[in-house]
Amino acid sequence: MKKIKKILMLISTCALLACNKDSDVVEIRMGHNMTEQMTVHKAMVYMQNRLDKLSDGKIKLKIYPNSQLGNSNETLTMVQQDIIQMTSISAANLENFAPEMSLFSYPYIFEDSAHYWGFLDGEFGKKILQSASHQNMTGLIFFDAGSRSFYLKQNSVESPADIAGRKIRVMGSYTAKKMIELLGGSPQSIPFGELYSALQQGVVDGAENNPASFYETRHYEVCKYFSLDEHTRVPDLLVVNSKFWATLSKENREIIQQAASEAGLFQRELWAENDKSYMKKLRELGVIITYPDKDAFFQAVKPMLDNVSNDSVNFYLKKIEEIRYLEK
Ligand code: GCU
Repeated sequence: MKKIKKILMLISTCALLACNKDSDVVEIRMGHNMTEQMTVHKAMVYMQNRLDKLSDGKIKLKIYPNSQLGNSNETLTMVQQDIIQMTSISAANLENFAPEMSLFSYPYIFEDSAHYWGFLDGEFGKKILQSASHQNMTGLIFFDAGSRSFYLKQNSVESPADIAGRKIRVMGSYTAKKMIELLGGSPQSIPFGELYSALQQGVVDGAENNPASFYETRHYEVCKYFSLDEHTRVPDLLVVNSKFWATLSKENREIIQQAASEAGLFQRELWAENDKSYMKKLRELGVIITYPDKDAFFQAVKPMLDNVSNDSVNFYLKKIEEIRYLEK
């Protein structure tokens, strides 16, 4: 991996030199931690083709899937340093850079997918995309990452008592850790790509994710219980290095934004189609799927919703609540 990083740094310097010479061709390198079967990767391939068409082959997108360049945090650092220019990443991983990104790790704030997209597609979604710009990372679009639920090796999760004392993997989010603690569990932050062996070796007793990720990572081979408590909806974002973005011509920025927005809509459609089929596949594989009553979970995590210290997060939580029933 270090070798790839060195090569990329060299290419990066050459690309910069090319940019300075006003070269017509813009090369964007992006890395992500999803498999090639997953919707985000398919959307990136879609974006690559759209960029090619819209720019007459002058904007080239090179995609490195499957954590080839490192885990989420490592890839994010590469974007910050302009070693690569783009990544798709969970909002949870951006929480340390912009408190606004923690918003999505607050449990049970969205009623359903329509409520979630009603908020993300509105004026506040646009602001949130910009909230890590001062850290050199600008969001171009949100990707659907569905809703996250618990899966455990030993038991299904019908109430918080089933989480009590269990080691549960979460993303690198302080807010997600807080939620697990309130449910009585012990949160462990482990990179996505290392989770399969962590589950297998018993480093953790379970994790939480959307059905697509649970299926594609084959975590079902180790965890036979998937309990759809749907605690959070944490979107992924397509993030670009802000300085690189500023060096582009207005026309190129518009082309890239258009291709990204189209790719985002494409991903959203794919996600909706796939979600049901993933559940079917999981059932066929013998996974025990349960639908716990969400109320006991909500009551247990309510203190974190009642005591939000960050003003922006509080503001957005109120806005989310205000539009709760408007999307129906
Ligand atoms: C989802 C999400 C990813 C994230 C992963 C995780 O798959 O789309 O961006 O990295 O969960 O739990 O780490």
